[in-house]
Amino acid sequence: MDPLARARELFERARGELDAATDAASLERWRVAFLARSGEIAKAMELIRELPPELRRDYGRLMNEGRKDLEKRFKRKKAAFSDSSARRGPLFDPTLPGRPERRVGHIHPLTSTLDRIVSIFSRLGFGVAEFREIETEYYNFDALNIPSDHPSHDSFDTFYVRDDIVLRSHTSPGQIRTMLSRKPPIRVLIPGRCYRPDAVDATHHYTFHQCEGLLVDESVTFSDLKGCLAIFAREMFGPETDTRFRPSFFPFTEPSAEMDISCPFCSGSGCSICKRTGWIEILGCGMVHPAVFEAVGYDTERFTGFAFGMGIERIAMLRHGIPDIRYFQENNLRFLEQF
Ligand code: PHE
Repeated sequence: MDPLARARELFERARGELDAATDAASLERWRVAFLARSGEIAKAMELIRELPPELRRDYGRLMNEGRKDLEKRFKRKKAAFSDSSARRGPLFDPTLPGRPERRVGHIHPLTSTLDRIVSIFSRLGFGVAEFREIETEYYNFDALNIPSDHPSHDSFDTFYVRDDIVLRSHTSPGQIRTMLSRKPPIRVLIPGRCYRPDAVDATHHYTFHQCEGLLVDESVTFSDLKGCLAIFAREMFGPETDTRFRPSFFPFTEPSAEMDISCPFCSGSGCSICKRTGWIEILGCGMVHPAVFEAVGYDTERFTGFAFGMGIERIAMLRHGIPDIRYFQENNLRFLEQF
């Protein structure tokens, strides 16, 4: 018989007997008979030396391919037998290190700044309350002593959802909602997102965050306001921080002021960030206007209070030396991963 045909016949027999093996022992017998070093395949391979040279190539290739095929079939069958539950697929190895399939995020710099603000004021007895971002004109303006035809109404440049429904342009409507839902004494922070149709630049965005503060009690004075905010400034920006209060105007406070801190970048000696003034404005504040107390039905003879409002982006920018407000919204990981 032609040696190639004999080789094919050998492989066919080997496959048949392999299929017939039904347990690990008969499989091992099959391996010794065919694949082992002195098995039938090895013997048939040795025949190559006796073949005429022109046949050797074909014979060699046939033998190699056939052998590989048998080895593959053998391995597959052996795996099925040796794993008693005949499980397929990779086994679970509990000693391997875990695969980091999900990247774990971290706190956004605006959130960590707010957390810091909250933690400072919480030691002064302030709690936290959050309110809606879509407000009525009444809460955003009128109850805060800002009538619709008042010029300051324009200065708040507001997004209107409908006739009398707005995206809140500041967190101050939270003052009204707080006072309507509880009685003094009140010490509360009201943080949240606000909206104004501002042109976007390095220091303005149409979406930004504020943190409002409100304290109402008997015999609260402007000194309480100053002391409280000076403590905040020193805790936030360092014990050397100086504060100054400049007269200002807000319809819902009287008197009103803006608070400046000594520039944390040059310690007040003047640099490009404080525009060589040595001071940086960080918030608006004042004593709660009696008209606001009247709007919520508080006794203006008995209660006084102060309120303040700060931009969280601004505080975060000063705290971390961030030069552009747009970074907070861009979701650029190269920025966010630095905090
Ligand atoms: N609501 C004011 C603003 O957005 C800030 C402020 C709050 C001023 C509370 C005084 C008292 O500019």
